[in-house]
Amino acid sequence: MRITVFDIQAMKAAGQRIPMLTAYDHPSAALAERADVPMLLVGDSLGMVVHGADTTLPVTLDDMIRHARAVVRGSSRALVVADLPFLTYATEGDAIASARRVMQEAGVQALKLEGGVSIAATVRRLTELGVPVMGHLGLTPQAQHTLGLRVQARQAEAARRLLEDALALQDAGAFALVLELVPAPLAAAVTQRLRIPVIGIGAGDACDGQVQVWHDLLGLLPGKSPRHAGRYAEIGAAIEGALRAYADDVRSGAFPTAAQSSAMDPDELSRALGG
Ligand code: KIV
Repeated sequence: MRITVFDIQAMKAAGQRIPMLTAYDHPSAALAERADVPMLLVGDSLGMVVHGADTTLPVTLDDMIRHARAVVRGSSRALVVADLPFLTYATEGDAIASARRVMQEAGVQALKLEGGVSIAATVRRLTELGVPVMGHLGLTPQAQHTLGLRVQARQAEAARRLLEDALALQDAGAFALVLELVPAPLAAAVTQRLRIPVIGIGAGDACDGQVQVWHDLLGLLPGKSPRHAGRYAEIGAAIEGALRAYADDVRSGAFPTAAQSSAMDPDELSRALGG
């Protein structure tokens, strides 16, 4: 049985912290599930960490559906949430059409939308139609050209607006909220005032849960991870070492050995070759 949005909300009520992680394909979903991660996000960060784009903006609905379907297939217990990509929910009609495609074609259990008061009516409509929605406030990467890639809502006015946005999303029926790159004390206040779980990324330790990007967490990409990322392994270096060893062995003839090869009766071979 899959974890439901009600199970996630019950975790907040019970004071249990909620781990969440991005996943973009079948093996990452299967590994995250074996590690007991209850909620997976097929984030549009895939545009950058999987497809090599500079921003999340080029990600399409088809991209999301293909990756999300693999994540759903790779998991049987985790709640799978998928991002609706840039400008695919600009109107209520667009949002319904996009939600229909991702829910039906990928089989995810919930969607994440960026924005606050301005999308509250859309969140309400989707929720009424049976689509669980996770909100996303603070640094919303789809708006990076208007917001910049920096900590948001440091000043009182912007912080007050963020709280209003958060309450509007809750009121519209959002089942949970991601807060990205906002000051820790503000995230703590929002978490305390909201009934629904608040999942932070770069938002301090007082949120109800945390979400991290797979590649950052595992050290998969060369170079430094963002400051807000926890780096729990150096898998990129391990992969590079393994690939180098493989390439060296092919060059030197050390791979393959008899163990990776199949034998053949010499008579059969000779008959085949007409000997
Ligand atoms: O796309 C994504 O991975 C996200 C997380 C950073 C929250 O939205």
